[in-house]
Amino acid sequence: MTEKRVYLDNAATTRTDPRVVAAMEEFFTDTYGNANSLHAEGRAAHKALEDARARVAGAINASRPDEVLFTSGGTESDNSALIGLATAGGRTSGHIVVSAFEHHAVLEPAEWLGKRGFDVTLLKPRADGVVHAEDLRDVLRDDTILVSVMHGNNELGTIQPIRELAAVTHERDALFHTDAAQTLGKIEFDAAELGVDAASFSGHKIYGPKGTGVLYLKKGLRFAPYLMGGGQEFRRRSGTQNVAGAQGFAAALEIIVAERETEAVRLTKLRDRFEEAVVGKLDNTYVNSIDSPRMPHITSLIVKGVEGEAMLLHLDAQGIAVSTGSACSSGSLQASHVLMAIDCPQEIAHGSLRVSLGRWTTDADIDRLVDALVPIVERLRAMSPVYEKMFGTHKA
Ligand SMILES: Cc1ncc(COP(=O)(O)O)c(C=O)c1O
Repeated sequence: MTEKRVYLDNAATTRTDPRVVAAMEEFFTDTYGNANSLHAEGRAAHKALEDARARVAGAINASRPDEVLFTSGGTESDNSALIGLATAGGRTSGHIVVSAFEHHAVLEPAEWLGKRGFDVTLLKPRADGVVHAEDLRDVLRDDTILVSVMHGNNELGTIQPIRELAAVTHERDALFHTDAAQTLGKIEFDAAELGVDAASFSGHKIYGPKGTGVLYLKKGLRFAPYLMGGGQEFRRRSGTQNVAGAQGFAAALEIIVAERETEAVRLTKLRDRFEEAVVGKLDNTYVNSIDSPRMPHITSLIVKGVEGEAMLLHLDAQGIAVSTGSACSSGSLQASHVLMAIDCPQEIAHGSLRVSLGRWTTDADIDRLVDALVPIVERLRAMSPVYEKMFGTHKA
């Protein structure tokens, strides 16, 4: 019998919770109307859509349901927040600040805007993996219109001081957007308390369906719709709404919020146990941003003298799924932009491994990972012609 696989890549995506699948089912086959149609089928779908919207608004503490727009995911929410807020009212110039370790779903639209008349500053986090409010204050200008800093970094797991960053941004009358794809349901997200103007969320990171997302957009903001057409979602996001997806998102969010506190304690214990075991058994190995505020489910490991991809593939062959921070694919030897942003030297950034825990992760999974990883690293280091010279000996 083949051994059960151990899935430790929950920051990439999560398994859809069967409770969420069950909650969605009737919206495919029974309540399948177009939420914009006036007949009974349409009205039923509309009711289900608005029910999902109100539940999401409640869970993130939006001040009203129409601040919640359903999208196709985190990427669309990020793209439309940046482009929609920057170009609102036909604006063609202005200063935009985004942190240097944002997801590409924020970095690329920022770069796109930079090529079309906007001036973009990439704000570096400090070596601790955190964007500091003082550093943001230093780069803001009279013409700053928009700042985007993620709530939790998807590679390091670090939590950003969003309330302070938003407050500093508002001192300059600019808008503040946060990409909260990784934090939703993992730590508290309260739109009013954080004081953000816009926020992006993704359904498949919270045990909900892939291809679903939410853009929180504070009421009254000027916004240029990114998708144009039928004028759905209060004329801010056209396209026939995915009612089953919206219901799935709402169900997933309610479950994760209800279980958040106990899950945070459980996952933090598992994460810490993994980190202690692996750092204790392997020298020249450390955890990125270990002393910074971090989400419970992500750990970013640097294992010197070993390629992240090699560890990933060996673990995969042993039935364990993790991810690597360094994206060196098809001959491009570029290390992760996240690790570069925190000044991790390029030669060791390639030895990064991201382990991300989830709802079904157990103690036994962590033991299996440690038991597999340690000999893999030892073997790879022993095979390396340069390891001893560069990094010294390793513990048995
Ligand atoms: C921080 C962050 N933002 C955005 C995204 C993109 O979300 P989606 O896959 O729903 O488009 C991800 C997912 O990898 C993410 O981790």
